[in-house]
This record gives sequence, structure tokens and C-alpha cells, in this order.
Amino acid sequence: MSDDRAQQPDERIAAHIAHNARVWNYWLGGKDHYEVDEQVGDMVTSMYPSIREVARADRAFLGRAVTFLAQEAGIRQFLDIGTGLPTADNTHEVAQRIAPDARIVYVDNDPIVLTHARALLTSSFAGATHYVDADAHDPRAILEAARGTLDLDKPVAIMLLGILNFVLDTEKATAIVRSLVDGVASGSYVVLTHPTLELGGEGNEEAMKFWNENATPPITARTRAEVAAFLDGLEILEPGLVSCARWRTERGEEGPLVAQFGVVARKP
Ligand SMILES: C[S@@+](CC[C@H](N)C(=O)[O-])C[C@H]1O[C@@H](n2cnc3c(N)ncnc32)[C@H](O)[C@@H]1O
Repeated sequence: MSDDRAQQPDERIAAHIAHNARVWNYWLGGKDHYEVDEQVGDMVTSMYPSIREVARADRAFLGRAVTFLAQEAGIRQFLDIGTGLPTADNTHEVAQRIAPDARIVYVDNDPIVLTHARALLTSSFAGATHYVDADAHDPRAILEAARGTLDLDKPVAIMLLGILNFVLDTEKATAIVRSLVDGVASGSYVVLTHPTLELGGEGNEEAMKFWNENATPPITARTRAEVAAFLDGLEILEPGLVSCARWRTERGEEGPLVAQFGVVARKP
């Protein structure tokens, strides 16, 4: 694992403001967060009680999607943008369990994610993991940095789980997906999750307003049509754009329906 910035204390670490990566870690039952993250996380939970189920369903979706891609679609390269703090079953662990030679590039712009990723996201011997400290708003820089580890002339799974919701401008978010997809080979995939006020997520409106006034980075929900438009020109795999808790679950293992879209699409 390596990173692209000097390994020094990062002045971007703000322990007094709740940060998404740390609050997400709190909701997932992790230990890598500060008191302020717990306080804001609890306030959001009081307004939108299913947020922990959303976080768990999102991670379970990641596991199923990466398993499908490595096992059935033959994908050996993953570009995971908006990695989050390492938790159980990170992308490289799921992929390399199936294909030890899988190569993964993780991208996040949270300095604490960088520190933990450096220590914990270590590759199998046959494969590779690399960490890039970059902003999702700059897809060209991400592709450029990924090129050292991934062969972009071969299919890549672009993982965009819970990240486009931090790109507030929908046109900009669409352009980012387009630019990433344009930069990878035919036969590549996009894996995406995104919060919505549909699917029973109306309660999240108040919680997101609270978040945007008290935490960082600011977030937005999107409609089914807006999320679908990110994937224009791609082949959307069955079962389509659904609650991520309903994407290819085995009978009996579906958790509660959550207001987080999940989808996998293929570049023709
Ligand atoms: C909700 S977490 C999702 C983590 C993981 N993808 C998952 O699905 O469990 C979002 C992650 O995106 C990162 N993030 C937010 N805005 C970002 C940006 N502009 N560029 C890069 N990463 C960003 C946060 O630091 C956080 O780690």
C-alpha cells in the first residue's frame, strides 16, 4: 500500500467537526471516530432511524457486487472511489479471496482514511493495493494516479459507493461518471450506491439538512431518474436500479428495504 502525499500529520484532520468517513464508521459499529462524530451520528439517527441499516446494507451490497464481478464477470481490477475507513470485507479482501491477483486502487480525500488505509488495506502477495489521496471532483487526476497500478486498457470496476452524494451539482456528478467511464476499457463496470428520499427515505430530508449545517462534507439525495441518468449508455444488470438491500440477495437474506439505490452497470 502506498499513497501519493507526504506522510506527515495532516492539518485537514478536524477533530471538532463531524466528518462523513468517521460517522459512517460509527454507524457501522467501528471504533475510528471522535466524540463529535458520535454526537452528530446520534442526532442523525434520531431523525432518520434507519441510517445504520443503510450503512450495513451498503456494505453488504459491496460484498455481493464485488463477489459477482470477481467470480462471474472475471474482473481483476477495481477503482474504489470514496473508500471509507477500513472495516470488515473491504473491496480488496472480497476480490482477492476469489482472485488473489486482483489489483485495487482506493481513492478518498479524508486524511484519517489515508492513515488507516496505509496500515490496513494491505494486498495479497499476487495482487496489489494502492491508495490515492484525491478528490472525487477530479476524475482525470484519479485515472492518472490509478494508471500506475491498473491497466486501463483492460476492464476495471469503478466503485462509486456513497460518494456521488457528496458532489452536490448533478451535472458535475454526471460529468464525473462520464469522464471515469470514458477513461476505462469496454467491458468495464460501474458499481454505484446513492441515498434517495424515495424508497421510504423521506425522513432523511430533515437529517440531511441537519448534517449540512453541522458536519462535513455536505450531502444530497437524488431521485431514481437522476441516478439512472448517471448510467446513460451503459447496460444495467439485473435486477436494475433497486434498494441496495434488494440487489441479488439470496432468498431469506434480504435485510430491511433501505433508501439507498444500488446498481451495477457494464460499459458495452
Ligand atoms: C459514505 S462513505 C462510503 C464508504 C464506502 N464507499 C462504503 O460504501 O461503505 C463516503 C466516503 O467518501 C469520502 N468522500 C467524501 N467526499 C469525497 C470527495 N470529494 N473525494 C473523495 N472522497 C470523498 C469520505 O471521506 C468517505 O470515506
